[in-house]
Amino acid sequence: MKRIITTIALAIAASAALHADEGMWLPSLISQRIQDMQDKGFRLNAEDIYSINQASLKDAVVLFGRGCTGELISPEGLLLTNHHCGYGQIQQHSSVEHDYLKDGFWAMNRDEELPNKGLTVSFLERMEDVTTIILNGYSECMSEAQRAELVKSNSKKLIEDSTADGQGLRATVESLYYGNQYFLFIYREYSDIRLVGAPPSAVGKFGGDTDNWMWPRHTGDFSMFRIYAGKDNMPAPYSKDNIPYKPKKYFTISLKGVEEGDFTFIYGFPGRTQEYLHSSGVRYIGEISDPHKIRLRTIRLGIQKKYMQQSQDIRIRYSSKNASVANAWKKWQGEAKGLRKMNTVSTKRRFEEKFSRWACGSRYEGLVGRIDSLYRELEPYSYATDYYAETARTIELANFAAKVGRMYSDGKFSKSRLEEMSADFYRDYYAPIDMECFAAMMDEYLRNVPEQFHPDYLKNSISVYGNVSVWADSLFSNSIFTRRGIVEALEEDGAEQVFSDPAYIFADSFSKWYADEIWPRIADTERELQLAYRDYMRGMMEYEESVNGKQGLEKFYPDANLTLRVAYGNISGYSPADGVIYEPSSSLKGIMEKDNPEIFDYNIPQRLRDIYASKDYGKWAGKDGEIPVCFIATNHTTGGNSGSPVINSDGNLIGINFDRVWEGTMSDIAFDPDFCRNIALDIRYVLFTIDKVAGAGHLLDEMSFAE
Ligand code: ARG
Ligand code: ASP
Repeated sequence: MKRIITTIALAIAASAALHADEGMWLPSLISQRIQDMQDKGFRLNAEDIYSINQASLKDAVVLFGRGCTGELISPEGLLLTNHHCGYGQIQQHSSVEHDYLKDGFWAMNRDEELPNKGLTVSFLERMEDVTTIILNGYSECMSEAQRAELVKSNSKKLIEDSTADGQGLRATVESLYYGNQYFLFIYREYSDIRLVGAPPSAVGKFGGDTDNWMWPRHTGDFSMFRIYAGKDNMPAPYSKDNIPYKPKKYFTISLKGVEEGDFTFIYGFPGRTQEYLHSSGVRYIGEISDPHKIRLRTIRLGIQKKYMQQSQDIRIRYSSKNASVANAWKKWQGEAKGLRKMNTVSTKRRFEEKFSRWACGSRYEGLVGRIDSLYRELEPYSYATDYYAETARTIELANFAAKVGRMYSDGKFSKSRLEEMSADFYRDYYAPIDMECFAAMMDEYLRNVPEQFHPDYLKNSISVYGNVSVWADSLFSNSIFTRRGIVEALEEDGAEQVFSDPAYIFADSFSKWYADEIWPRIADTERELQLAYRDYMRGMMEYEESVNGKQGLEKFYPDANLTLRVAYGNISGYSPADGVIYEPSSSLKGIMEKDNPEIFDYNIPQRLRDIYASKDYGKWAGKDGEIPVCFIATNHTTGGNSGSPVINSDGNLIGINFDRVWEGTMSDIAFDPDFCRNIALDIRYVLFTIDKVAGAGHLLDEMSFAE
């Protein structure tokens, strides 16, 4: 008997080791994983990763904007992130005359660095388990709504207390494991962030949407910013007198490069994962939501592309919008395919059956079935929400009209605010694209959403105009929002004009319908689901513990929620399909193989061709004499991890994370160690580009290199 038990324990330990690359761990609890990290090659300790007593790697990692990660690489506030994370900023500084997207941008001195309104970076000061504070006053007999109120008011108070001494402090309370635990995160947020450099899109977005989410990859996806602070090194609004921020910690750069099997660690802000979803939730995403959203976006992308090909001006204006529509569109395709291939729904169902048998007679009895029926109730409403979000909510004119309208309804009209909003909107707007999308999206809505979910306003419009294109024509030609001059001439007394505008009425009618008829149903069911998931999560942990002992428990990591996490793994190729094996790294040679002046996504700068021909690589080449470009590894990452530092076993920077492979994008829901790989940019390609392609080698003087 004893032997059998040891064997089971060994088998579990072995399989734990095999799958241990899955997971996004909380840095403040990393001491629980550090042994495993060290066993896999890491040479530093837990305090080097996260400490509140000394400078640690966490002080060199920032939340960049509200959806990317960045890292500090010099004592003077120099920061690296992805090109696609700085894309909005680079685009906003671009025009047909200075096309920084096309040609790249490099500040040759500090005076040339460009400020970016609205951009912030946040340093995590500390994080802390605050479950008892947040649930103070809770009793089991409270309803879910009462509990939510309590959590909200306790959080509010805690946030106020922890940010009381000001100076850019910002705090959030986040729920982990569906509210089984709460953590407080305190950030210091800087808002004077200047653009230092970006390669041309032909490097930074090389491969474009064709190669996006794919391996082999050759994208030089990086951009560089600098954080500025007041004289006291504290956050300060933009001012010419601000000085470069002096970080507590910045990364030392290693030029050693990577080999298959090497340890790597990603430190960043993953946005959202749903690893503990019930099979019914997975089924909805993979079989219904993803396919419908993909189809709607295919139509929008087609319309955008058609106009973008007609003019350079429209191409610039819609480049950022187009990239973001295309990005999720392609990811969902990989995700749906991956879930199918992994049979996630049936695997989860089998688990749920086992769980249910185990749960018989316990407080978890019937839970799995209950979640399933909640999903059944929710489904028609989720479907309507998906359609609303991907159709009516994507009409740019209507969104802008609603924004202007809000200024009036909130009683906050301000001429300068109006001018600012208008400049923001019209800079990148092209009405014919929007109008064609309007007609196409409304048509899809009418055809695919059951009539029960057609707002009265929609039914009336169709009966008045007969069809969507006549409706679109009328709406776009009668709205004042297609005419910038009229919008900018609006005054304090313009409310009536705005509220009676057809674009405003469109947005307002849909959003009222959603708020009255859809959202309350969703909110009710979601609350019940939340409660059920909170139990289910605890149940799964108890189940694991009773079946697999303590090791079973170790596999639970909280779903990503845009808080700082550690993921670790190793450099590894993979086999995407029978008969195909992928190497784990790519090089400049591959860029030359793809180079094609005829194809927009693959047309590299002439300078890169010349350097390749002359082999003038400086010290940036790898052992094989080639310039390394990208590499893949088994780290568990998601959206938000873009721009994250890729760290080697000595704690030095070897790359910048920017993507995942297509066959592995289901990792937000289910991680398959055979297919899930993160894609990183080799730091040597970054330095080579700065030094040889951009001629901005002066920036290297600020950086520190490992021997
Ligand atoms: N797929 C990456 C991420 O999710 C990069 C996206 C930007 N690139 C693009 N071609 N759209 O953010
Ligand atoms: N490209 C993603 C990002 O922007 C990263 C990912 O989804 O793997 O965060």
